[in-house]
Amino acid sequence: MKKTIKDYDLKGKRVIIRCDFNVPIKDGVITDDNRIIASLKTINYALDNGAKVILMSHLGRIKSEEDKMKNSLKVVADRLSEFLNKEVIFIPETRGSKLENAVKNLKEGEVILIENTRFEDFPQKRESGNDPKLAKYWANLGDIFINDAFGTSHRMHASNVGIGRLLPNGVGFLVEKEIKMIGEVIKNPNRPFIVILGGAKVSDKIGVIKNLVNIADYILIGGGMAYTFLCAKGLEVGRSIVDKDSIDFCKEIMEKYSEKIILPVDVVCGKEIDENTQTTLRLVEEIENSEMGLDIGPKTVELFKKYLENCKTVVWNGPVGVFEIEKFSHGTKALADILANQNITTIIGGGDTAAAVIQMGYKDSYTHISTGGGASLEMLEGKILPGIDVINER
Ligand code: 3PG
Repeated sequence: MKKTIKDYDLKGKRVIIRCDFNVPIKDGVITDDNRIIASLKTINYALDNGAKVILMSHLGRIKSEEDKMKNSLKVVADRLSEFLNKEVIFIPETRGSKLENAVKNLKEGEVILIENTRFEDFPQKRESGNDPKLAKYWANLGDIFINDAFGTSHRMHASNVGIGRLLPNGVGFLVEKEIKMIGEVIKNPNRPFIVILGGAKVSDKIGVIKNLVNIADYILIGGGMAYTFLCAKGLEVGRSIVDKDSIDFCKEIMEKYSEKIILPVDVVCGKEIDENTQTTLRLVEEIENSEMGLDIGPKTVELFKKYLENCKTVVWNGPVGVFEIEKFSHGTKALADILANQNITTIIGGGDTAAAVIQMGYKDSYTHISTGGGASLEMLEGKILPGIDVINER
């Protein structure tokens, strides 16, 4: 079991908490603050226990000076301040005298947020290259390091693995919950255990399929990736997205686990990925050359429902249609609704799946909605995440 923030006496200590405040921002306004909300428990715990709190996070990917202008964490400091109901002192630099003085003057129960750690990626990739000098500089600012950035835990960067190696460390409540929910559920699920996979590309999910096909009782496949499977079965899928390099993989997996892989039987087709395109409901054998499958159809929802109604654990990664467009969102919404009305363990992967169910109003309807897209995927693949691996065992 990993050490946690609760294993330390925080009073008077400088506690660096690595958060994942990589939130979507449009025209300077945060459009989804769930990651900030998910970080509050750990931050409040540290503040309530007399820590001097130093928050770090990345935001976006920084490859130019222009990227820096667009990706300041100032807007996050302001939102966080509202949630915490106290001042969050924003330091507009990632190193330098302003930062050092702010840390020196920091009092118990006060909190600072330093500028986007990835500002250190331009002109040289110091943050994402896990530069040892940078890690040492940041580690010198604190006494204890807490990793609460689950969404970044699949990265080996200076602000997580680099600092984590140099300081007494632990995970925060958010990371602790993700490890428990995702890690333990796939180790020892209540059965029947069903995995729903969607999203555009099979290649993104090969690792997950390889790992979970041995653990799950069934894998229900929807989304763009379903068409590569249907194509591998020899069906014509028109202009639907097909991941040609993954066709052989799909054939092999269907041969070996024919009874476990469940594919759509009908789909909603359109000529374009556009809200004005005309839609046609087709059996999967009847998709026309000019059409693309863009959502699962009602017969598929009924088929998937039969499996879902009788299971005890579900892991869902990837929307089963182009949910951003209303007319192709019904399949994803129907599954979200079926799962929300069952008394079972439901784990929703981060990224698009989380965005879809939250947007559809199911934020509080499941056992767990992950805050990590890539990180949750890698955990489902059975990989060890460097940002978690660096944290010492109890
Ligand atoms: C995410 O949003 O998935 C994490 O914050 C990681 O971001 P990255 O893919 O830019 O490393």
